[in-house]
Amino acid sequence: MRLDGKIVGVTGAGTGIGRAIALALARESASVAVTDVDLDHARQVVDEIQTAGGQAIALQIDVTDRDSIEAGVAQIVDRWSKIDVWCNNAGVSSMKPFLELTETDWDFNMNVNAKGVFLCSTVIARQMVHQNPDAASGLRGKIINTASMAGKRGNAPLLAHYVASKFAVVGLTQAMAGELAAQGITVNAVCPGYVRTEMQEREVAWEASLRGVRPEGVRQFYINDTPLRRLETPEDVAGVVVFLASHEADFITGEAINVNGGAWMD
Ligand SMILES: NC(=O)c1ccc[n+]([C@@H]2O[C@H](COP(=O)([O-])OP(=O)(O)OC[C@H]3O[C@@H](n4cnc5c(N)ncnc54)[C@H](O)[C@@H]3O)[C@@H](O)[C@H]2O)c1
Repeated sequence: MRLDGKIVGVTGAGTGIGRAIALALARESASVAVTDVDLDHARQVVDEIQTAGGQAIALQIDVTDRDSIEAGVAQIVDRWSKIDVWCNNAGVSSMKPFLELTETDWDFNMNVNAKGVFLCSTVIARQMVHQNPDAASGLRGKIINTASMAGKRGNAPLLAHYVASKFAVVGLTQAMAGELAAQGITVNAVCPGYVRTEMQEREVAWEASLRGVRPEGVRQFYINDTPLRRLETPEDVAGVVVFLASHEADFITGEAINVNGGAWMD
């Protein structure tokens, strides 16, 4: 198993991509802190992991609240003494034409998607710098951010505020990777495309109503915009996160890896 003995934390792991990441990491024998603002959903994922024979705990962490992050991280360290990998995955979205966007829309997206990654990463990096380096790699820890295709492709109608928040995640990934390399911490991101999750269901409904088309038409547009001609699954993303968490990716840092079936290439 690729992650035997590794301790990992995942934010927004109660549903969707975060849930798939937590399950995939546990399948590779990592011990997983399944964190979410919704504790019931986190507990359900822990049940799934434990039923399959894996190790996991559920914690309520709101990534916009520093106290909640610090309390959650302290519980993980109390239990397992260290954190090898931290996945900043929690995110939100909303859709509106640019001319109708409000400060509330901006703050909602920026607070969870960008500030949440910043807050969690400061708390986690301060923990990781005190850890003993891994014997094989010399690394003290890894941070993996769930950015988005919208973190590289600005031309995403109805999503200007979300785009800004995800460009921030890609920029922060590079800036943290540069600074934290000296401390033995790698920082990378994954950039998913059109992933079938509850977030996508909400977006399909908004987009259908804003454009005056049927939901099936929106889904078909997503598929047509993807050269590999299907919607992405949460597992498509989780596999790349497992790779980044593994020793195979020890010399990768500052990357924002496209995982989108070819929908955006750069
Ligand atoms: N679904 C897509 O098409 C897609 C594409 C690219 C990137 N992403 C990104 O992937 C990540 C996961 O998205 P998803 O599609 O699985 O969404 P989702 O809505 O299905 O799940 C998001 C999870 O984050 C949690 N969450 C929300 N606010 C939180 C907070 N303040 N603190 C902690 N947890 C919080 C929710 O409770 C939920 O469990 C997000 O960062 C999203 O922006 C999604």
